[in-house]
Amino acid sequence: MTRFARITGTGSSLPPRRLSNADMVDLLARRGVETSDEWIVERTGIRARHFADEGVYASDLAADACRQAMSAAGVAAQDVDLIIVATSTPDMVFPSTAAILQHKLGIAGCPVFDVQAVCSGFIYALTVAHSLIATGTASKALVVGSEVFSRILDFNDRTTCVLFGDGAGAVVVEASDRPGILATDIHADGKHSGILCVPGHVSGGAILGDPLLKMDGQAVFKLAVGVLEDTARATLAKAGREAADIDWLIPHQANIRIMQSTARKLKLPMDKVVVTVDQHGNTSAASIPLALDVAVRAGQVKRGDTLMLEGVGGGFTWGSVLLDF
Ligand code: UT7
Repeated sequence: MTRFARITGTGSSLPPRRLSNADMVDLLARRGVETSDEWIVERTGIRARHFADEGVYASDLAADACRQAMSAAGVAAQDVDLIIVATSTPDMVFPSTAAILQHKLGIAGCPVFDVQAVCSGFIYALTVAHSLIATGTASKALVVGSEVFSRILDFNDRTTCVLFGDGAGAVVVEASDRPGILATDIHADGKHSGILCVPGHVSGGAILGDPLLKMDGQAVFKLAVGVLEDTARATLAKAGREAADIDWLIPHQANIRIMQSTARKLKLPMDKVVVTVDQHGNTSAASIPLALDVAVRAGQVKRGDTLMLEGVGGGFTWGSVLLDF
């Protein structure tokens, strides 16, 4: 019998400290950097983001999101047999944030690892979990996106620091005799690695290079709108479905204009697009599972709905997952 993989529970976590655009205007003004609520809203759709307090790590937000997802799925921690964390802001160089998370959840023995594909990380992680479940290696997986991007922002660079926020989203993915995940599609092109990067590294007890985020926003924007349409069409074709079959498009939450463009190309009305970028900003690998959980808890996304999840980001990476929820 074919083994399929289904999302059986979702969860998310946002640190309590919420900064509106007005708060960002004040924060940047103290550094002599000018921005405005009008510019941020008009160019990105972002109105607020959450920042974690000092001492709160990606594994903490992930643990919170995972507990909610396990509770929603009715899965006990000791039954989890795989943990994959997508993050670009890990707690440490090593061990993996997944290993730290595993211990925080009181689990031992199952395989755990991090996936580093920046804002496409959750799509990559879900694709890997799907494969490991389909081949019988795992039966109950936690797939998590968790980020503390506030730690890698340059608050003297108004072109990037107003865009990002912290948060986590998690799903439980279980083996099933019915699908579930219908098709996946992941890609990368490393020649564009310079347009979105944190070009620092640890060496000899010091940080070499610059450990803060750099982005050529326009270059990322142009690539993003093209590949998001391509990958959505690729998963639809693999699954033998049409764009009109999509009940909810849940794209990476980077910029409302990118989401509008993708929806337009797929001929989907915006009321079929889950939008949380206004409240969370861009939470990188966390943004898709966070948006999914918000939409599930708001009663928007319902069991049986067909969902198109898609991500794009540093690497350059992109991909999508089509699933029946
Ligand atoms: O998560 C991975 C995926 N990431 C993305 O998808 C991000 C993709 N890129 C974008 O979303 C957009 O390119 C941005 C939101 C980053 C920028 O929007 P834009 O419409 O491409 O603006 P721009 O970079 O062309 O800048 C326009 C102007 C510039 O001023 P001049 O040169 O025209 O005088 C900027 O200096 O806006 C200025 N500007 C700002 N003004 C006020 C840039 N940032 C700000 C700011 N506040 N925060």
